[in-house]
Amino acid sequence: MKVNSFHQGEPSELKNDTFLRAARGEEVEHVPVWCMRQAGRYLPEFRESRAGKDFFETCRSPEACCELTLQPLRRFPFDASIIFSDILVVPQALGMDVQMSPGKGPVFPEPLKEPDDLQRLRPKVDVDAELGYVFKAITLTRHKLEGKVPLIGFTGAPWTLMSYMIEGGGSTTHSKAKRWLYRHPEASHKLLRQLTDVIVEYLLGQVKAGAQALQVFESHTGCLGPAEFKEFSLPYLRDIARRVKDKLKDSGLDNVPMIVFAKDGHYGLEELSQSHYEVVGLDWTVDPRSARERTGGRVSLQGNMDPCALYATKERISEIVKTMVEGFGTRGYIANLGHGVYPDMDPESVGAFVEAVHTHSRQLLNRN
Ligand code: CP3
Repeated sequence: MKVNSFHQGEPSELKNDTFLRAARGEEVEHVPVWCMRQAGRYLPEFRESRAGKDFFETCRSPEACCELTLQPLRRFPFDASIIFSDILVVPQALGMDVQMSPGKGPVFPEPLKEPDDLQRLRPKVDVDAELGYVFKAITLTRHKLEGKVPLIGFTGAPWTLMSYMIEGGGSTTHSKAKRWLYRHPEASHKLLRQLTDVIVEYLLGQVKAGAQALQVFESHTGCLGPAEFKEFSLPYLRDIARRVKDKLKDSGLDNVPMIVFAKDGHYGLEELSQSHYEVVGLDWTVDPRSARERTGGRVSLQGNMDPCALYATKERISEIVKTMVEGFGTRGYIANLGHGVYPDMDPESVGAFVEAVHTHSRQLLNRN
């Protein structure tokens, strides 16, 4: 067996590999489940740990990231963990200032306005120097997990990061960033390429540090049409997966499953399932059976319960989960929400979701 550099520290044997097997389309005893934003403000212990501390300071502390990653696992039998961090650490690595404004979200005091502003970005990013704190957090968390469940690393995708860097924060229309796509296509591609190069090194570093799977968040697919998606998002998503996989191979490292989550990108499902990712993540606007048909068994699927369904009663959550699991089927399926857990969610509802996935999928598997 090939050895990832992390393994030199004699890690614990993985006790629950259900998530990894489902990602590869292999047989499982139950459908694995985790939640986007499972480490988040809906947990009182998360709010307590984060209280009074700057968000990105927290991201730069490997000990804090490790603790926040482990918190949800102490409460619920999730089948995977995801490192606590943020997609906006990549624009920071490129030299941009990003603040997290409580109650408002991310803010870039000096967003990119015109193509000339690209000169403000670091032309060459030393990923180990700029993002080594994430790698340290991953390695520490792998050790502390003691093989309980796999650890997922992640990144934002180029278009999503580009849109934040130009909008300077959250936006409903993304019109400033989309203006670049229509008015400055060359400069847009230049920026997307630059982001892609950093992201590839960043993901590779995460695997070397101990990440056992990778998720790429293209959160802003919904504001693109199919043609813009094909030109400005999809080629970079594909490039990332291909280059990460090639580089892992060249370095003698094991392949890790990669998940692409293009939120609201239902129009691109066929293409996404042919983009070198093992898993395609889905939001709740896609019907499970139609997603299966459209992806033709080429990939495993992840998702996609509406996070708002967690406001329902425990009994109703159980019914919704049963229908969802029946729709996706138990093979090549990872249960998740269609987006992150909302901060006002009752933790008990998240527990009910996890339990319902395990119970209903076991029942379905025993019936077959
Ligand atoms: O999923 C996890 O549990 C892992 C941690 C994680 C965070 N952000 C922690 C976080 C992950 C995977 C992300 C990704 C991320 N960050 C995305 C992609 C996923 C998506 O939501 O589409 C995006 C778009 C961001 C940018 C970002 N960071 C936003 C829009 C916000 C929310 C601001 C707000 O106030 O709601 C953040 C902050 C953030 N990142 C929080 C957490 C737990 C909440 C702020 C806090 O803890 O103080």
